[in-house]
Amino acid sequence: MSVHFIGAGPGAPDLLTLRGRDLIAACPVCLYAGSLVPEAVLAHCPPGARIVNTAPLDLDAIMAEIEAAQAVGQDVARLHSGDLSVWSAMGEQLRRLDALGIAYTVTPGVPSFAAAAAALGAELTLPGVAQSVVLTRTPGRASAMPEGETLAAFGATGATLVLHLSIQNLAQVVADLVPHYGAACPVAVVWRASWPDQRVLRGTLGDIEARMEDGITRTALIVVGRALAAQGFAESCLYAAGYDRRYRPQSADSPWSEWRDGDD
Ligand SMILES: C[S@@+](CC[C@H](N)C(=O)[O-])C[C@H]1O[C@@H](n2cnc3c(N)ncnc32)[C@H](O)[C@@H]1O
Repeated sequence: MSVHFIGAGPGAPDLLTLRGRDLIAACPVCLYAGSLVPEAVLAHCPPGARIVNTAPLDLDAIMAEIEAAQAVGQDVARLHSGDLSVWSAMGEQLRRLDALGIAYTVTPGVPSFAAAAAALGAELTLPGVAQSVVLTRTPGRASAMPEGETLAAFGATGATLVLHLSIQNLAQVVADLVPHYGAACPVAVVWRASWPDQRVLRGTLGDIEARMEDGITRTALIVVGRALAAQGFAESCLYAAGYDRRYRPQSADSPWSEWRDGDD
């Protein structure tokens, strides 16, 4: 018996991996985080599956569901939104499973930041503009930030920032970041990325608050950085005509020429 943790993606039901879909179809029990996991994903559950929305459950109750499945030898599909590596609460469940000696697997999903970047048609790492993306959040009612993980500290790097769980703190985000990025720095708010009713608001740190619209709550990301509107950035070396590289050696003397036959 195993518990299969599966990233269910950002909302569009077809942004689920094939592996995730097949695991859901093979498990007689499905526990899903109902606040964000799209119901349509549950259509992959086999007929007669026990399907439980864990949104109203506490951790003990979730573990009780898993132990009940274990008692009768049934595999469990455990669905969380987006990818499991960020803000999924998977870590605390894995710790419990380790203590109980219950096996598990982890199948990644499309994270919401990637769906938001797709909605924006944006590469978040442009040559010479930004080469790092910081996935972060602001403090919430139940979650303080570790010391040192401040917006000011991340902002000092100039990296592209993607703020989760923070739309309710937009005013503070702006106040913290203007000193580092300037009021003209581009900002986008992407609400329900990949959902049919997805909304995208674009602005700057100076005017994004004024551009906010009713209904943009909870399931939104704030993307901040010069990469969002950069035009004059350099082209990458990857496709530069004269750049000597493994898949395109420029001469017989190239250190990469020996790879030409073997690797292509
Ligand atoms: C508990 S976290 C889950 C993050 C998820 N594990 C991921 O990979 O994106 C929930 C937050 O992620 C962001 N989020 C999740 N899905 C989103 C979507 N489709 N569009 C915009 N933001 C989303 C919002 O900031 C929301 O408050």
